[in-house]
Amino acid sequence: MTNPIDTERGLISREIFVSPEYHRAELEKLYTRAWLFVGHESQIPNPGDFFVSRMAEESVILCRDARGEIRIFLNSCRHRGMKVCRYEQGNTSLFVCPYHSWSYTTDGKLQGVPLYRSLYEGTLNRDEWSLVPVGRLANYKGSIWATWDETAPDFLAYLGDAVDHLDQVLDCRDGRPGGAEVIGVHKWVFPSNWKLAAENFLGDSYHNPSHRSVDMIGMSGSAQPGQRRDNEYTNAQRVWIGFPAGHGLTAGIAHPDLEYTPTYAQYPEVDEYFRYCFYERKRRLGEKARNLALVGNIFPNTSYHGRQPRSLCVWHPSGPDKVEGWRFFLVDADAPAAVKDVLRHYYMRYSGPAGMTEQDDMENWLYASKASSGTIARRYPFNYQMAMGKPNAANLGPGLVATQMTDQTPRNFYRTYARYLNGDGWDSLLGRDLQPIRRAAE
Ligand code: FES
Ligand SMILES: [Fe+2]
Repeated sequence: MTNPIDTERGLISREIFVSPEYHRAELEKLYTRAWLFVGHESQIPNPGDFFVSRMAEESVILCRDARGEIRIFLNSCRHRGMKVCRYEQGNTSLFVCPYHSWSYTTDGKLQGVPLYRSLYEGTLNRDEWSLVPVGRLANYKGSIWATWDETAPDFLAYLGDAVDHLDQVLDCRDGRPGGAEVIGVHKWVFPSNWKLAAENFLGDSYHNPSHRSVDMIGMSGSAQPGQRRDNEYTNAQRVWIGFPAGHGLTAGIAHPDLEYTPTYAQYPEVDEYFRYCFYERKRRLGEKARNLALVGNIFPNTSYHGRQPRSLCVWHPSGPDKVEGWRFFLVDADAPAAVKDVLRHYYMRYSGPAGMTEQDDMENWLYASKASSGTIARRYPFNYQMAMGKPNAANLGPGLVATQMTDQTPRNFYRTYARYLNGDGWDSLLGRDLQPIRRAAE
């Protein structure tokens, strides 16, 4: 192919999914610049709390320093590179490197150097050997994001109009802003390319037949036969939306007269909570309450389920054909214990390595990767031509809004992807040049 990422014709080379060269280019040109999800402040409520996270292949420490400020550092000792913190999470006043015992305070400063007086005095300036901090850090409604690029735009500028959809993951179910709590993180490894997972969440509703068995057993919270989600999406206007910075999603716009229908009738306390949240959200948000997030992907590798099972997933690339999936499950922090418990069970039935829906998806991702890696297979591009040339809806909110299934959203994702690999400036990466085109399309 002359152009391996030909979004105009909807043809994308399999090379970008299988070759070590593309993997390396992504790490160097994309993952060093894009904003990445690192964790949630509910995981580190107290000074000294830490959670060891990842930014692509780099291990990083998310921690709250002694003064309560949130910090993120590269988890690699400045002396000879040892992983400074080998625990997944905890609380400490000092990170002591296991190798030669250099130690760092929770604000990243190098504090202890064994035999400093006799071996380093006059040579080593401790101020110059702090842990490496990220370039920029943002706390958006409790979700913590970071980029290595100090010149990156503010996180909210990066997010653009995708914010209204992400809000539904981070806000309380009754419409109050923020207030979420992480109740658990599933981490697992699967042999695939990270972009196949990200694509799934961009709004690939076309793959729904893969989930037929899950639909048939009726695993929704409301235990409706034939559903794997609650019935709030019934009769909603479905939309598929791409945003200029590469984010994408599918959502439902509820009918204005939608009333609450019991969803957890077998648990009266839980049902009562969701009934209250439904009407309180309508009251607080008005017209905006009609927006029902389903799934989406914040460029490049942070996916989400908006409402059910409410979670943020990060697809950490660990090679061209290896992904470490991390799924952060969220609930309203002040929800009754019974609600959290029912949701926890639903989340595990649905998602994560043992979740029934996620198992279906992974089956597709890993065999698509495997079956695309052969010499012959690589010669044939993937097809992204669905709904090409179909007009966008003019009156259903910002972004490229389709009212039918479409590959417009992944084409938009790969246009952004190509721009990172090309080393474009931030105006281009945010798709600022695309705004007039979008208006023309409307
Ligand atoms: S590598 Fe950390 S103290 Fe030597
Ligand atoms: Fe799926």
